[in-house]
Amino acid sequence: MKTVTVLVGSERKGSINLALARAIEKLAAGRMKFKFIPLGDLPMYNDDLWATPPASVVAFKEVIAQSEAILFVTPEYNRTIPPLLANAISWASKPYGKNVWVGKPVAITGTTPGALGTAVAQSHLRYVATVLDMIVLGQPEVYFQMKPGLIDENADVTDETTKAFLQAFVDKFDAFLDRVALPVAETA
Ligand code: FNR
Repeated sequence: MKTVTVLVGSERKGSINLALARAIEKLAAGRMKFKFIPLGDLPMYNDDLWATPPASVVAFKEVIAQSEAILFVTPEYNRTIPPLLANAISWASKPYGKNVWVGKPVAITGTTPGALGTAVAQSHLRYVATVLDMIVLGQPEVYFQMKPGLIDENADVTDETTKAFLQAFVDKFDAFLDRVALPVAETA
């Protein structure tokens, strides 16, 4: 069983990105165990805080360092990555020389009610992930336009075509991890 750290770029109770992440979790059941890590406890990034690193930052970096794989599920804010996620990414990339994203296999998706399905934010996130030396799943790209009822309260995808599309994403992510995931000790 693979363990996947899931980072959702929204803390909203009714987050559609959390709903998408839960639906993917259900489609991956039996093959991947998802660990959802909240990002809202992290302070706003400030280099000065490294003098006495906040416990939430130390814990978050440790979680990322120990992660076998990462799934980003991002909203799009003003056509880019939301600050919650950008902040978390910055913390785990620093201080200089202690970037714990290096070598982490990651998949990226996200959802919005908008027609572009977070394509622009995901594109920015792919770029940042590559710069930080993560290993990014290229295909399939999942630009997910949320519609009312498309994912129900049980985290089931109600449209069969959409469900098959998400299942293909899970299958490709699973196969990608078979190819690229290293034992955690080798990436730390
Ligand atoms: C948005 N939203 C949005 N949607 C989009 O498709 N492209 C965008 O550029 C933006 N920009 C944007 C900026 C800000 C500040 C907010 C608060 C929202 C709408 C966004 O997709 C919507 O609020 C989602 O519901 C956010 O995701 P969660 O919180 O439901 O997961």
